[in-house]
Amino acid sequence: MKKHIKSNVHWVGKVDWELRKFHGDEYSTHNGSSYNSYLIQEEKNVLIDTVWAPFAAEFVDNLASEIELDKIDYIVINHGEVDHSGALPALMERIPDTPIYCSANAVKSLKGQYHGDWNFNVVKTGDKLDIGNGKELVFVEMAMLHWPDSMATYMTKDNILFSNDAFGQHYASEELFNDLVDKSELFKEAMKYYANILTPFSRVLTKKLDEIIALGLPIDIIATSHGVVWRDNPMQIIEKYSQWADNYKENQITIIYDTMWGGTKRLAERIAEGIGLADPDVVVKVYNIPKSDENDIITEVFKSKTIVMGSPTVNNSILHSVAGLAHIMKQMKFKDKKAASFGCHGWSGESTKVINTLLEDAGFKLIAEGFKNHWNADGARQLEAVEFGKMIAGA
Ligand code: FEO
Repeated sequence: MKKHIKSNVHWVGKVDWELRKFHGDEYSTHNGSSYNSYLIQEEKNVLIDTVWAPFAAEFVDNLASEIELDKIDYIVINHGEVDHSGALPALMERIPDTPIYCSANAVKSLKGQYHGDWNFNVVKTGDKLDIGNGKELVFVEMAMLHWPDSMATYMTKDNILFSNDAFGQHYASEELFNDLVDKSELFKEAMKYYANILTPFSRVLTKKLDEIIALGLPIDIIATSHGVVWRDNPMQIIEKYSQWADNYKENQITIIYDTMWGGTKRLAERIAEGIGLADPDVVVKVYNIPKSDENDIITEVFKSKTIVMGSPTVNNSILHSVAGLAHIMKQMKFKDKKAASFGCHGWSGESTKVINTLLEDAGFKLIAEGFKNHWNADGARQLEAVEFGKMIAGA
């Protein structure tokens, strides 16, 4: 079922209510997602992006009920990742000669994935495509936001920016527009999306936002490829992205740990207590890594000015859940955040040293040697953990 966006533009995508994991198992989608495809029907008919491969047959059938497929003059593929291009092979079986407009890198990604010898037309920033009725599509390369092939497409007169992944959210909704959904849920999902997908490219993003603003294109609608369309004050999400790309942090300290017999957990709780006592204004959050959602933890790290990471010593090292999260944190290339470590040990006691190395390697600035505790902390030692927390709050 198509949904009206503006003038002669309709949404023809797929809402995926059931989705709970995305990018394989790498990204949790508590609220599902959508794969947004758009049909423009001016003098020329243009399809912007498709949907994920499991929905290819449904997508092509639905599209065929809205328009005779051979009346589609152009297909724009803003990004070759399979959640947007997955239905392209099924569509091209029906209309094999239809011109595809995409970036040079998208030709590589589409050929590499589907091996189709299709009618590719490479475009770059500033290139235009006349679609009749005085309207044009203007292409804007968005390399590394978040793939080298990423691109956005701007439609003149209707002032719609088809932004693809940028400004998206993994958020299934029957309502299509940002003013019709729960704002708190929407911004939570938008931030999680930024924190887990776009943080590594924040510097590129800052330059790209400046470039888009410098183009002076009026933007009435940002039509993303996931989640809702921004029609109510669309600049608000651009402004958010500007803030998030600028070494974002809130007045928050997050403690993340794993524990075997509860000793390191007790330290986590005492350290949290100390932080709260020293600075009642700071938001303190505590997560046991394997009992929590790692993408939600990454979002909390994104919001934090400081993190405190703990593990007991195991086989001269740390628990794998802690190492795994440190690995993701390194991938995210967080900037301008502080960190400290803690952990219990019975024998050799390497955990704080191992965590410190991982934290520094991930770009965090250490503010202490780490709180290393032999066996279980007794009352006096627990008070020292509280003091450690106070020190972190003041660092
Ligand atoms: Fe939504 Fe990069 O794919």
